[in-house]
Amino acid sequence: MKFEIKHHDAAGRIGRLITNHGSVTTPLLLPVINPNKMSITPQMMKEKFGVQAVITNSYIIHQHQKLYDTALAEGVHSLIDFDGPIMTDSGTFQSYMYGEIEMDPLTIVRFQRDIGSDIGTILDIFGTPDQTKEEAEDAVNTTVERAKQSISEKKEMNLACPVQGSIYPSLRSYCAKKLGELNADMHPIGGVVPLMENQQYTHLIKVILASKKGLPVNRPVHLFGAGHPLIFPLAAALGCDIFDSSAYIKYAKQNRLIFPWGTEKIDDLYELPCSCPVCSTISLSELRSLPKKKREQKIAEHNLFISISELKKVRNAIMQGRLWELVEQRASANPFLQDALHEIHNMNHINWLEQFEPVRKTRGLFYTGIHTIHQPFFYRLHARLIQWFNQSSSTLILLDESEKPFSTAYIDILFRIAKEYPKEDIIVDSAIGPVPIDLDEMYPFAQYIFPDFLDIGTKQVRKKRWEECLKDKKIIRWEIEGITPNLTLNEKNHLQKIFDERKVRSVAQMQFGLDIAHILFNGVISLVKSKKTSKIRNVFVDDDHVVSMRASDGLFTLKLNGGKKVHKHSSSPRFRVVIDDDAVPFVKEGKSGFSKFVISVDPRLRPYDECIVVSKKDEFLAIGQCLLSPCEMGRFRFGQAVKIREHIK
Ligand code: GUN
Ligand code: ZN
Repeated sequence: MKFEIKHHDAAGRIGRLITNHGSVTTPLLLPVINPNKMSITPQMMKEKFGVQAVITNSYIIHQHQKLYDTALAEGVHSLIDFDGPIMTDSGTFQSYMYGEIEMDPLTIVRFQRDIGSDIGTILDIFGTPDQTKEEAEDAVNTTVERAKQSISEKKEMNLACPVQGSIYPSLRSYCAKKLGELNADMHPIGGVVPLMENQQYTHLIKVILASKKGLPVNRPVHLFGAGHPLIFPLAAALGCDIFDSSAYIKYAKQNRLIFPWGTEKIDDLYELPCSCPVCSTISLSELRSLPKKKREQKIAEHNLFISISELKKVRNAIMQGRLWELVEQRASANPFLQDALHEIHNMNHINWLEQFEPVRKTRGLFYTGIHTIHQPFFYRLHARLIQWFNQSSSTLILLDESEKPFSTAYIDILFRIAKEYPKEDIIVDSAIGPVPIDLDEMYPFAQYIFPDFLDIGTKQVRKKRWEECLKDKKIIRWEIEGITPNLTLNEKNHLQKIFDERKVRSVAQMQFGLDIAHILFNGVISLVKSKKTSKIRNVFVDDDHVVSMRASDGLFTLKLNGGKKVHKHSSSPRFRVVIDDDAVPFVKEGKSGFSKFVISVDPRLRPYDECIVVSKKDEFLAIGQCLLSPCEMGRFRFGQAVKIREHIK
């Protein structure tokens, strides 16, 4: 199946999934269509709700003679009158709900193929949370065996092979790995409906992460039966690409309205707290007094609007780099979800999640509660800060937090300090820990917004970060009050030049690592600054333009000369994306660096990091920006891995 990644945030992704009936953007919700009772028809879903793709059940079609005949004669697209991508499920859920069903695992796969399903599903064994490990293992083995046999029957159809394994992370990873070795096209995470119904979100997180860790990174992942919008942001942040919902209709039958924060019974409401097309044209009392069928229909439509709109918010959040923020906001509405997020603080998970975390985001980093400081980004930041402090002066001058950027707010004080302590580094006592003043314009130091009153957990983390960064250092807390020395313009310019050079080196150390910073700035540095804002723009070393500083986030973009320098003075694989010989002529023409041509990558790179592109013989070709994580490059057969910015001819 053609699947490519367009954007990253958290371990979530904006992807493009291409089927024979068109391409769709993920994360995506597939509304469940019951071919026997289509209260909202797929056609209406497309026109009124902007639904891109749907899921229906091949087992139901197979069991009803009329549906069976029509589907085989005219295809499933004609049967439910929908010309977009259709996924089909296999009857596994029916066997979980109603006990053993009579269905041969290969018959149902062939049937899905023959009715023209875009994505079929094997007849997996639903692993329930109350299974013993032995029972769960049996179910996993049968599921894997069925997947193997089913794949030989799929022909042109894409086939979804669900990961099972109950609540046992090791079994989930094992199942994922086994299925990943097969020629499957998509991997739903199955057996999670009871976890969601009972709000066992800690188990859900463990199950999703264990499954994701075992699966090949390039396959789309579906969270089976996840219909409530409350968990869309979290599941998307952990790397789930597709959701399906029968909840919109199921809840409607129980007179329950879905909202991003949970569900409300119609009888518990005083007004309709919603302005979707349904709720803006009807009052609560009118809705209540509608005949049962009509009311169900209206509520189902509202539920679908809300669910679809939540996925729009998820996609927006990914584009803006605010997915964790959305996850935390949603969790604040539900104590079970709030508790479950603690599971993510586990370092095993953080380390896995961190590889996908972009190095920069287009929006500021907002505190949304006790979990913010545990976002994977902060762990990376801290690790890099420790490196910075390792090479800093042994005495540090400490300033209180001020307006951002600190170096502008404190410029007179910086002159004073420089007079007395010309060699000492200066740091700021910030809400997120000690911040070197040189980094004050670099993401996220100029862009984070934390409240003045911090929760105890955040304070503890902050204290720990202080201790780890500043052990063995002598700290001098600088008194803000004092007299600004009378400096001549020349003296000021001279000091400013020293500050700027420190800034350039420090930012590069944080952004690229000490080794690369050293290579880039080994020589005489000169700067071009913006006339309007006085911010650093271009950095030259011995007359070569090596990097530019982006005004929006204070990070460097690498220039061709900088790339050449890095290439000359470092050795493979450092800072490199190595591409196959076939792709070399394209890169030399400035075409994209496609993922399928990537042979190897420096594992230290992260999404949106700067990099150099080289051939297998380590010939320097270009500089650019990584669009994927190293663990994804080469694995994705579609889409770009590196956005080439400058190249050799
Ligand atoms: N629908 C909800 N959960 C599942 C599952 O585990 N497997 C299948 N095939 N369908 C589902
Ligand atoms: Zn509504």
